[in-house]
Amino acid sequence: MSIGIIGSGALGASVARALAGKGIAATISNSRGPASLAALVEEAGPSLKAGTVEEAASADIVVVAVRWTDLGKVLGSMPAWNGRIVIDATNPVEFLDPNSLDAKDPSNPLAAYGIKAIDLGGKYSSAVFRDLVPGARVVKAFNHLGVEALTQPELSGGTRVQFFSGDDAQAKAEVRKLIEALGYFAVDLGALDVGGPLASLPFGPLAATNFVKI
Ligand SMILES: NC(=O)c1ccc[n+]([C@@H]2O[C@H](COP(=O)([O-])OP(=O)(O)OC[C@H]3O[C@@H](n4cnc5c(N)ncnc54)[C@H](OP(=O)(O)O)[C@@H]3O)[C@@H](O)[C@H]2O)c1
Repeated sequence: MSIGIIGSGALGASVARALAGKGIAATISNSRGPASLAALVEEAGPSLKAGTVEEAASADIVVVAVRWTDLGKVLGSMPAWNGRIVIDATNPVEFLDPNSLDAKDPSNPLAAYGIKAIDLGGKYSSAVFRDLVPGARVVKAFNHLGVEALTQPELSGGTRVQFFSGDDAQAKAEVRKLIEALGYFAVDLGALDVGGPLASLPFGPLAATNFVKI
């Protein structure tokens, strides 16, 4: 299975490093083009390639690691997904400019983290995401912990849990294999309607909490 990553920021680069650490081949992309990724590719080693967004998006498994506010632009002009697996690693939050009034808004419980929740009008984020990738098999994963967790599968004498959820059993089986190949204990939270809201930041009850399999 080929792997593409769209987004090379905190999350995309961490996924890339985690894959590279296990020698798993992947193509990473961002908005500035492959040349801007030379340092990351050199650091990660020969299993990681830099590509265009279109190249990353044509992989068998595509990890989407861009900010929620950029999703429409990034996913708006993709070729047909044709049943390929898309990992929704996003969370519906807006990153705040630390100098903005929003960053100091006392009514925002997330201001201290430099983010605010995006109002999805009662929908959960993976349902919105799924509509942006028609024909893809969406699995939600890699979104519920800080990026530093992605290269530290072992914790407190046990194995860190990575949650995943989705509606297609075969797609989930592939993502489970990937999570396990990275050294994590994979926990299937069920359908996207169930697992998505459980593990989505900012307010999912299983989000941002480390679970460790002893
Ligand atoms: N940071 C975390 O700890 C964490 C943890 C779990 C989940 N998440 C989620 O992961 C997502 C990404 O977060 P992040 O912290 O990695 O954000 P980030 O550091 O700002 O990185 C965003 C990446 O998206 C790329 N991008 C933006 N527009 C694009 C376009 N039109 N085409 C291709 N690439 C584009 C950017 O490209 P350039 O590099 O060229 O600007 C950048 O590489 C968010 O949804 C976030 O909620 C983050």
